[in-house]
Amino acid sequence: MTGLYIVNFDTRQLPQQTIDYLVIGSGIAGLYTAYLLARAGRKVVVTTKKMVENTSTERAQGGIAAAIGANDSPLLHLQDTLRAGAGLCDPESVRILVTEGPERVRDLVEMGTRFARTKNGFALVREGAHRKRRILYAGGDATGAEIQRILCHQVATQKIPVLENHFVVDLLVHQNKCYGALVLDETTGCLAVFRSRAVVLATGGAGQLFGQTTNPPVATGDGIAFAYRAGAEVCDLEFIQFHPTVLALPGAPTFLISEAVRGEGGILRNRAGEAFMSRYHPDAELAPRDVVTRAILAEMKATGATNVFLDVTHMTGAELQRRFPTIAQTCADQGLDIARDWIPVAPAAHYLMGGVRTNVYGETAVEGLYACGEVACVGVHGANRLASNSLLDGLVFGGRIAERLLARTEKADAGPEFRCSTLRDAAGTDYAGLRVALQKRMDAHLGPIREPAGLEEALRFFEDHEYLQQCTATDTGAMEVHNLFLVGSLVTEAALARRESRGGHYRTDYPAPRESWRRRLIYQRVPGDERDSG
Ligand code: SIN
Repeated sequence: MTGLYIVNFDTRQLPQQTIDYLVIGSGIAGLYTAYLLARAGRKVVVTTKKMVENTSTERAQGGIAAAIGANDSPLLHLQDTLRAGAGLCDPESVRILVTEGPERVRDLVEMGTRFARTKNGFALVREGAHRKRRILYAGGDATGAEIQRILCHQVATQKIPVLENHFVVDLLVHQNKCYGALVLDETTGCLAVFRSRAVVLATGGAGQLFGQTTNPPVATGDGIAFAYRAGAEVCDLEFIQFHPTVLALPGAPTFLISEAVRGEGGILRNRAGEAFMSRYHPDAELAPRDVVTRAILAEMKATGATNVFLDVTHMTGAELQRRFPTIAQTCADQGLDIARDWIPVAPAAHYLMGGVRTNVYGETAVEGLYACGEVACVGVHGANRLASNSLLDGLVFGGRIAERLLARTEKADAGPEFRCSTLRDAAGTDYAGLRVALQKRMDAHLGPIREPAGLEEALRFFEDHEYLQQCTATDTGAMEVHNLFLVGSLVTEAALARRESRGGHYRTDYPAPRESWRRRLIYQRVPGDERDSG
């Protein structure tokens, strides 16, 4: 059974500080929420487990979707989002996303974000499954880096403390109310207690469950794991989006080749040079991501290759430099001139549609605990996220959390002391080896194509490692492994339970959606023997 904590501690023996709000995570969702709270005069602290810019936001290439074009509307954006979500989106959440999105994007512009422009206004491009050109981008293919830059600037202007190398170990929850968090300062190796009126989770995704991912190394599912341990609901975890086009060169970094490249006419070719996508979907290269991913895997299998190719040679070197400077340079570093050479690509884990379940105000099942961005699941992505909706999700629902918190007037309550002393020593555990073993299982059995025997095998693997939950984690590497095992086991259980294929979840034994499965799988920890806990 999952325990409440992953380390032994006693808050009476630890340094403690009290603030208004603790925001965990420094991507778009966390920094935007923190900025809005601080701008209203509240005392906010942001913690981030590495450096402030080590986020998925920083890596985002394609852009941010918003219905601001002359022939576009929130209704069309809503319809595209619902269609991509394959019947599992929450329509009210999507309505909020697409109607409040344009205003939030304007807020980013007012802060100074330099989205690309034409003489008629913002330059808008198209990505897969969007019927309109509605993606704003910056720096060619460096949209996330530009947003991260501007939000870091705003956070500095508001003098919000951003505590880097601070790893949140667990939340401090008593009788279903969150009082703060237990935090490890990695530079000193010391634990400390942050008490706050509310905790906002914005810790991003869990791409590190897999060997190949576009996510940064920090994406180890920590927020989902500690929210689950604390009693929050988690849902839709079986829905993992694999990005179809990630650079696939031996020895090269796992580097995203943006969908925007296909939006600009890039063609997928198999080993024989054939443009194969129209055999799989009428929208060809701009079909939904799960369709493109499975098509690529089928072509790789049929031709015995470990990759396919993305051909952008219809663009000139100058055009590519202007539109995709980061991609062109990264490929050049690997000896590829993308104006002449096809880019070898293969799918890799990219985005977790599920997460900590929230309502449209970012509230979780635990009082005082909020979540936004990739760690959260408010139902806007359903079974498959529409391209470039994720930055918008962080912005819109982070903004709503800030508004909700600012409207609340109840007095802060410091809460009780907390302790845990029941975990046993795990000295000698090979955490690095465990991490590799987990990634191998996830790659083999929880990828874009799932087989029942593989899912059963993965479940047995997680069951064999349940003992980890009774062990104390000694450093952040071990803590990440604890979190990966918990999240991996939940993903596996959900994937095994969902006997259908839908969006990002595809099973060979149930290859089609089933109407009886148009429902969500929600998991919540059952409280156990917690003598020691609060
Ligand atoms: C991309 O640029 O292809 C990624 C955008 C996204 O995942 O929304």
